[in-house]
Amino acid sequence: MTDAPHLDNDYILLAGRSNPTLAKEIAKILKKDVHEPVSVFSDGEVRVKIEPNLRRRHVYVIQPTCPPNVNDYIMELVLMIDAARRASASEIIAIVPYFGYGRQDRKEMPRVPISSSVVAGIIEKAGADRIVTIDIHSEQQEGFIHAPWDNLYASYSLIPAIRAKKLKDIVVASPDKGGVLRATGYAKLLAASGIAIVYKERDINVNDALSQSQTLIGDVKGKDVLLVDDLISTGGTIINAANYIKKVGAKSVRAAVTHGLFTGPALKKIEDSSIEEFITTNTITLPSEVLKHPKVTVVSIAPLLAEAIRRIESGESLSNALFLRT
Ligand code: R5P
Repeated sequence: MTDAPHLDNDYILLAGRSNPTLAKEIAKILKKDVHEPVSVFSDGEVRVKIEPNLRRRHVYVIQPTCPPNVNDYIMELVLMIDAARRASASEIIAIVPYFGYGRQDRKEMPRVPISSSVVAGIIEKAGADRIVTIDIHSEQQEGFIHAPWDNLYASYSLIPAIRAKKLKDIVVASPDKGGVLRATGYAKLLAASGIAIVYKERDINVNDALSQSQTLIGDVKGKDVLLVDDLISTGGTIINAANYIKKVGAKSVRAAVTHGLFTGPALKKIEDSSIEEFITTNTITLPSEVLKHPKVTVVSIAPLLAEAIRRIESGESLSNALFLRT
């Protein structure tokens, strides 16, 4: 029944190969099916064939553009969008929980691209009417396209998990100066006794250069400290900050980090660090050694994305219920 007529405002969920498990979780909450239209030709080219009729339907394409195949996943995303547009979908929403290239969001030295802007432009040009992300590295990126860009906050899912720990006298810390707004938001929501900021220096000429913790603003002595960040890649930033905070007298250090890229030996570094517990989400498909690690707690982001889809469909505000910053 692939071409059966349907009611207006019906919608379809599509998933590529970057995080089909998350897409299925979202679909289960919404009591929908999720279609997986991507395969690969023998020469390595991506093949997309969408089975259901899409005419006048809203189409949600769920695809984080994350490691280990960030470029392939971008290609899958834009080909699914193109297929949906050519099949006369009435609205196409790119749900990109982790937005790859998001850290390359400005020209921080001469003769480098603004890669994130290029990627956003490709997604829009392919036919996306809206992009939805979670904790995009910098929110100004929403201006890279003309279409609406809804950035959601993983705090919707992380805050209840942190509150459940019933930590007393909590201080929320940012591992760098770029994360101060995020730390302030978490501190408000957790009624924390204070915030702290670790200052780091990073050599921008070296890819993934190890971040250096330098100094700390705020009082962490004897406190349960929660470090918050948008992502962990090599682990350099968060681990340097955690070890420094512990060294200057914190009682305990935990980390809540939205996107778990875990490149290289990041997991081993967490294991050997002062971080007592590492709380993250499933925006990215996490390898089993991360999922099973005793220091790691994974909180699902599916309820947040399902609620966002429900609200987009019903025309309700996203900001009223889903925003971190008040
Ligand atoms: C930096 O601005 C980001 O918010 C992260 O702190 C950083 O990108 C994490 O990278 P890594 O884990 O490699 O230090």
